[in-house]
Amino acid sequence: MEIIEKAPAKINLGLDVLYKRDDGYHELEMVMASIDLSDRLTFKRLPKNEIIIETNSGFLPTDRKNNIFQAIEAMQKTYQFDGGVHAILQKNIPVAAGLGGGSSDAAATFRGVNRLFDLNANLDDLTRLAIPIGTDIPFCLQGETALVTGLGEIVTPLKNPIPQCWVVLVKPKISVSTPRVFSKIEVDSLSHPDISSLKSSIEMGDYQSMTQHLGNSLEDYTTRKFPVVQHIKDKMIQFGADAAVMSGSGPTVIGLCDKKTRALHVANSLKGFCQEVYVVRTLNK
Ligand code: C5P
Repeated sequence: MEIIEKAPAKINLGLDVLYKRDDGYHELEMVMASIDLSDRLTFKRLPKNEIIIETNSGFLPTDRKNNIFQAIEAMQKTYQFDGGVHAILQKNIPVAAGLGGGSSDAAATFRGVNRLFDLNANLDDLTRLAIPIGTDIPFCLQGETALVTGLGEIVTPLKNPIPQCWVVLVKPKISVSTPRVFSKIEVDSLSHPDISSLKSSIEMGDYQSMTQHLGNSLEDYTTRKFPVVQHIKDKMIQFGADAAVMSGSGPTVIGLCDKKTRALHVANSLKGFCQEVYVVRTLNK
């Protein structure tokens, strides 16, 4: 038997850093949504108690450093099932991009192993196991447009999904380390997006208002360190995107367009400038 799971990328429409906690982590307030750009994972049982990860990506480790490995191990330890897991990852989401690819792969692994061994774990059970592995995984387990708070573990779906639109994703050729960004920011000097207005715009289905309230507290640091991120944002607006914002800790910039033709125009105009450019739809959930 084999189990197939899709692992969609996420975007941060809003990310506010509220304060730094005593344990070094940051209290966040975010609005997140899933997009139609997914990795694909296949899971098979192995007779012996081992974990094998195969991937088409040359960048990723296949040992304990991989989130998929950690998720399988957490399930093995908790549910003590007989046998091992062979996971095959087809990677389509850019790596270290701010699009939650690794977290979504881990979430798909929790779902996949749960099905593969008929473990009957519910969303709360999986969320508890997920948090130590990555703070974006709880959102990815659930996948609906949501307000995400705490470290990332409190996921509250919004009353309505993100209004349907087109998302232009541009990833400059730099990799950003999330722990490094969080260790470098000065919390007192950050800008704060209006997450409450962003949330109500989405809940009212008001696309225009939503585009006016995108924002990311981590952008100041990343754009200072990598001016290309600001440059991409400016170009996106110049070429006709309704709004542009950095996703997560970056460096990917997302531009929103209500019309596909305009999204394609923005993407084509940016292709000469950046190699990794995608046009995708939001997922209606
Ligand atoms: O959970 P994840 O692996 O994405 O987090 C990467 C790093 O980002 C953490 O090790 C921590 O340094 C930082 N972080 C934080 N506050 C959060 C989430 C992540 O400081 N709420």
